[in-house]
Amino acid sequence: MKLEISHTILNIKDSKEIIKFYSEVFGFKVSDQGLIGGSGPEIIFMSTDPDEHHQIGFSVQRQDLEHSTQLNHISFRVRTFEEVKKVKQNLDARGSEYLPLCHGNALSLYFNDPEGNALEVFFDTPWHVIQPQTELWDPNMTEEEALNWVEQTFKDKEDFSKVEDSEKEFVNRT
Ligand SMILES: [Fe+2]
Repeated sequence: MKLEISHTILNIKDSKEIIKFYSEVFGFKVSDQGLIGGSGPEIIFMSTDPDEHHQIGFSVQRQDLEHSTQLNHISFRVRTFEEVKKVKQNLDARGSEYLPLCHGNALSLYFNDPEGNALEVFFDTPWHVIQPQTELWDPNMTEEEALNWVEQTFKDKEDFSKVEDSEKEFVNRT
């Protein structure tokens, strides 16, 4: 059985701020919203994919923003380098901070939503490299510059290879 992750539902407090953030930064659209069981709490479904009713949902039942949730982060894959840049521009436009980290196999931005939930957006590089790996990268680079930088930075690490040359069964690793 190969499971496909479908969606994440977060408990939130301020639906207006949250909808605005996920719309502005990622281009999510509300697909449905309403009260669970007719009386609450409210749930808001959002998606960027016409074939997926919701990729993320928000249940408006969080009371306490003082303490972070137990969730470490939610990660979104985009298909092009330019889309990572677009998210960066959207964050810059809001004045939101982000941490650009490269894992060798991915160029990522990490940032928080307005309620402190940690998010990642990433673009797959053409390489596989043993994990975990983290290096800061400069998101002002062009795609060509970034991929050259990734190759130079990770080429001497264990397992570094083109993804197509290393079709390993990660789940069977010992
Ligand atoms: Fe991640």
